Amino acid sequence: MTSTDVLFRPFRIGSMELKNRIVMAPMTRSFAPAGIPGPANAAYYRRRAEGGVGLILSEGTVIDRPASRNDPGIPFFHGEAALAGWKGVIDAVHAGGGRMGPQLWHTGAVKSFLVDWEADAPVESPSGLDAPGVERGKAMTDADIADTVAAFVKAAADAKRLGFDTIELHGAHGYLIDQFFWSGSNHRTDRYGGPTIRERSRFAAEVVAAIRAEVGPDFPIILRVSQWKQQDFTARLAETPAAMTDWLLPLVEAGVDVLHCSQRRFWEPEFPEIDGENGLNFAGWAKKLTGAATISVGSVGLTGDFMAAFGGESSTAAGLDGLVDRMERDEFDLIAVGRALISDPDWAVKVQANDRTKLRGFDAANLAELV
Ligand SMILES: Cc1cc2nc3c(=O)[nH]c(=O)nc-3n(C[C@H](O)[C@H](O)[C@H](O)COP(=O)(O)O)c2cc1C
Repeated sequence: MTSTDVLFRPFRIGSMELKNRIVMAPMTRSFAPAGIPGPANAAYYRRRAEGGVGLILSEGTVIDRPASRNDPGIPFFHGEAALAGWKGVIDAVHAGGGRMGPQLWHTGAVKSFLVDWEADAPVESPSGLDAPGVERGKAMTDADIADTVAAFVKAAADAKRLGFDTIELHGAHGYLIDQFFWSGSNHRTDRYGGPTIRERSRFAAEVVAAIRAEVGPDFPIILRVSQWKQQDFTARLAETPAAMTDWLLPLVEAGVDVLHCSQRRFWEPEFPEIDGENGLNFAGWAKKLTGAATISVGSVGLTGDFMAAFGGESSTAAGLDGLVDRMERDEFDLIAVGRALISDPDWAVKVQANDRTKLRGFDAANLAELV
């Protein structure tokens, strides 16, 4: 066994069979003119499928709600033209030997830090807050919430109908679903709010349960979650394993198959006060506490973390030994790779060949084009 073989074991969840453990992380590229993905987007994803990635998660793609996106280059996952574009994408990925799910997204009250652009409608969020003390847009009514749940369900149903292998809900990084989770942005006093994380998880649980009822028992549902928010890197939804169980277990019970646990650096322990500096990471704890499969992520194969990429910072290639060690312990099931796959569509085959001298790292200049 070469040392990276453990990353190339197959994995099955529900109806989805993956040839290896490598996932392309969802990455917004803002290359969908008028919100419609076209042949260039299909070719971009196909190259990563041909390059050996087991599962591709699309860039965030938005549901059918007014102001569900905060950047005009973000693709829609609704409407005939956009869905036809996505059909082209999934067919291309399948032809390249890959599996794929769209990342279904609503940006909530978050203003893009990349473009100065406003949607035609007011932005919406649990309490009209982007972050503690930062008012933006309007608080959602019961009717808004019901329609948003329905829009997520419609998008998931469309994904399944088009032939996608899974869907991922974007519940991380301070966007709409996360704004419900976070006490800093959810001050509701109705059934979608409350002092406990379990209460603030109700919105996400309702979205998941409604999708599960629509797509049937075998179609895998992935939920991406994070402790950190782009509004506050130090924010934490769960300070203890008990709180993490209250947060995540109801979501798994509602129908989530895979928790995608976003960290900026995968090697950082989640509760070092319990199991030490080399302890389980977020995905490790989430797996242990809920029994669900998990995906980890964060600076795999790279020296620097991803927020710096938006400031134009590149990152050099780093070793994979720490990742392999954790995979060998089955701390988590899958590993997502972001920037390394932007700069090198063949990253996975190079890792499989154990040809690490050929790993390129990440060049921020590659964000300027879709190749
Ligand atoms: C250009 C870029 C766009 C991103 N867009 C998204 C997104 O749409 N949805 C999301 O959940 N995360 C997004 N992320 C975060 C990545 O999915 C990933 O978690 C992060 O880059 C860490 O992985 P890495 O260190 O391997 O790059 C983005 C990251 C980058 C670099």
